[in-house]
Amino acid sequence: QTLLILWAVIGYLLGSVPFGMVIAKVMGLGNLRQIGSGNIGATNVLRTGNKLAAFLTLVLDGGKGAAAVLLARAFAAEDAAQLAGGLAFLGHCFPVWLKFKGGKGVATFLGLLLGLSFPVGLAACATWLATAFAVRISSFAALTAAAASTVWMILLGHGEMVALGGALTILIFWTHRANIARIRKGTEPKIGKK
Ligand code: G3P
Repeated sequence: QTLLILWAVIGYLLGSVPFGMVIAKVMGLGNLRQIGSGNIGATNVLRTGNKLAAFLTLVLDGGKGAAAVLLARAFAAEDAAQLAGGLAFLGHCFPVWLKFKGGKGVATFLGLLLGLSFPVGLAACATWLATAFAVRISSFAALTAAAASTVWMILLGHGEMVALGGALTILIFWTHRANIARIRKGTEPKIGKK
């Protein structure tokens, strides 16, 4: 029990590191809150025009989700791994350092899926890529990949991930509520556009 709480805390703290903000600041790209959607994720970092910064944000935000899962699995067990991954996601979306106003959780979600089951994570990433390639809207690709991830879990024999995956998918739809409104109005910008 104590061990589970410890992994929840470690997961949350890992997830709460706002890499996009840190990278944008260190690379002199400005305050992400005043750019594009105001979000701290890779999609918005890309709106600064710096592809390397966006790539680093994607890898580090994904990496912290994967790291939380893999560390908990290495030192504890599978329930701790799920918990740490889920808390890393919550840490990214609701970081104490940013008064609980964090990111939308997509990269961290993909990272924790890769950590929990590499095939499921890969299928979710492929869904994101294929959708993004087809429609060129990051948020739409994210919503599609999140919704599809539960299907991939079932198809690939990872029923044990469905409860966590389903809960995080609902949260992703919630963090994207402004994006969903823009998609419905047809005003959601294409990838790389301001
Ligand atoms: O991962 C976040 C993405 O789905 C949407 O980002 O900046 O367009 O709101 P943004």
